[in-house]
Amino acid sequence: MVRRLRMASGLVLFAYVVTHLTNHCLGIVSIGAMEAMLGWVRPVWTSIPGTLAIYGAFLVHLALAFYALWERRTLKLRPLEGMQYALGFSIPLLASTHVTGTRINDTFLGGDGSHYMKVLTGLWYAEPVNGIVQIALLFAAWTHVCLGLRFWLRLRPWYATAQPFLYAAALLLPVLALLGFIAGEREAGAALALDPGLLARILASQTQPGERPLLNGIAWGIRAAVLGAIAGVLVARLVRQRWQRYHGVSRVIYPGGRWIDIPRGFTVLDASQMLGVPHTSICGGKGRCSTCRIRVQADPEALPLPSTEEQRVLRRIGARSNVRLACQLRPRGVVSVLPLLPSPKIGRGRSRRPVYAEGGEREIVVLFADLRDFTRLAETRLPYDVVFILNRYFQEMGQAVEAAGGYVDKFIGDGVMALFGLDVASGQASCQALAAARLMSVRLDDLNHALADELDGPLRIGIGIHLGPAIIGDMGYGPTRSLTAVGDTVNIASRLQTLSKSYRCELVVSEDLLRSAGLDLTNTRRYEMEIRGREAPIVVHTVETVHDLPAATLALPIEPATARQTRS
Ligand code: FES
Repeated sequence: MVRRLRMASGLVLFAYVVTHLTNHCLGIVSIGAMEAMLGWVRPVWTSIPGTLAIYGAFLVHLALAFYALWERRTLKLRPLEGMQYALGFSIPLLASTHVTGTRINDTFLGGDGSHYMKVLTGLWYAEPVNGIVQIALLFAAWTHVCLGLRFWLRLRPWYATAQPFLYAAALLLPVLALLGFIAGEREAGAALALDPGLLARILASQTQPGERPLLNGIAWGIRAAVLGAIAGVLVARLVRQRWQRYHGVSRVIYPGGRWIDIPRGFTVLDASQMLGVPHTSICGGKGRCSTCRIRVQADPEALPLPSTEEQRVLRRIGARSNVRLACQLRPRGVVSVLPLLPSPKIGRGRSRRPVYAEGGEREIVVLFADLRDFTRLAETRLPYDVVFILNRYFQEMGQAVEAAGGYVDKFIGDGVMALFGLDVASGQASCQALAAARLMSVRLDDLNHALADELDGPLRIGIGIHLGPAIIGDMGYGPTRSLTAVGDTVNIASRLQTLSKSYRCELVVSEDLLRSAGLDLTNTRRYEMEIRGREAPIVVHTVETVHDLPAATLALPIEPATARQTRS
């Protein structure tokens, strides 16, 4: 209900702001054009239904903003959310003069706001600072409207396609409105210059002596009421916090043992934000997107039952009984939680660009990894589950590669391609790749453990690693352009990964790479592999489980810079 009310009132205000700004735009043509449109629009907004709609929507929207401020358990806001609040509350403060000078003056004191000439003169020439305030109001209101629409629409499937057009419209309308507003002021100024008595006559027709202080007083009263209400809500929040602290706390424990005590009534998402745990929440905690979902372990009495709304979302994604929405769950005791979707912050570090981005050939290690039997798994699961499992898998594998010092080139289907040696020598890169393979296997075990309830059987992986020359550079088109490698070495690494399936092992690694890493795997199986276009076969070793690799490979040797091999 709250969401619907916010949306309905927001849409009424949006319609009002759009017509108002469009009316301003016509100032580019002339004041006459502005007044022509005003003559058509004003009767709608000043009619009884129009007045009820616009003021009703404004009051409802403002009240809901106070309610949202009260409802939030933490004031740690994301930048756009913070901006949305700040702009929203600034609107009544900035609009107070405009409202008193037009609506209140017209309705109760016999003013005439039906002529742009009079309004422009009043704003720019009676108290010029008001003209500046109106420009600030224009941008605050429009930005607030656009942010609200973005929060509402960004999950729609068509949004990405429409985004460039929406951005263009969002930018054009206020700029044209500003130009129209300034052009109108210029035209009004020219008219006043031609008739020295016009200003006095217009001001006299707008307000009687003694009414100006009254209108100013009302405007200040509106500002004081809004600021007082904001302060009141903030104080009430503090009192609530104290009261809740006094009456008990809940403990939220995260993977790895991090925990935080939160006052009763706070959600798990609040806890994540307070503790600084990255937690995806695409709809901003409104219980609509399900991206904040968590797996929960707790005594039943610590878990209040999900609301109807939360149940509906959980049903829609086919969630298991131990899965809840972090933004809706307000624990009443100790709960252990596992955020189920990767945070968007994870993996940001991998945009690291080596100096070879322009293109060049160098010795490099390429690692390919692929999930076994994932097609069968995908066929038996809901699409959302497939995406969820894959994203968890990509997160774990990506972190393993980065932890070992590698660069995740791309995710292909259910496979991963990673490069090592972009900024270290080949010996070190080989050790890094082996360390990454071991770490991937370890993390996959952890993931299997974490997702035991979600999977019919454990996920298994096949990895191929090879060392050799490859062409490195930024490749692709438009937004898909990124650093990658091409050449025989890449093809061979991919082939080794495919062979791991036939050899029924987790890792197939070339002897070249083992030699470069200084690793002796004489006790493993050794094969010779013919490669089309190459005279000599490639010697490879198979490792049944990557855990079997000596842990020493995780200790990465640093080679002197002179040992680096570069072919360019
Ligand atoms: S953040 Fe969207 S449902 Fe919780």
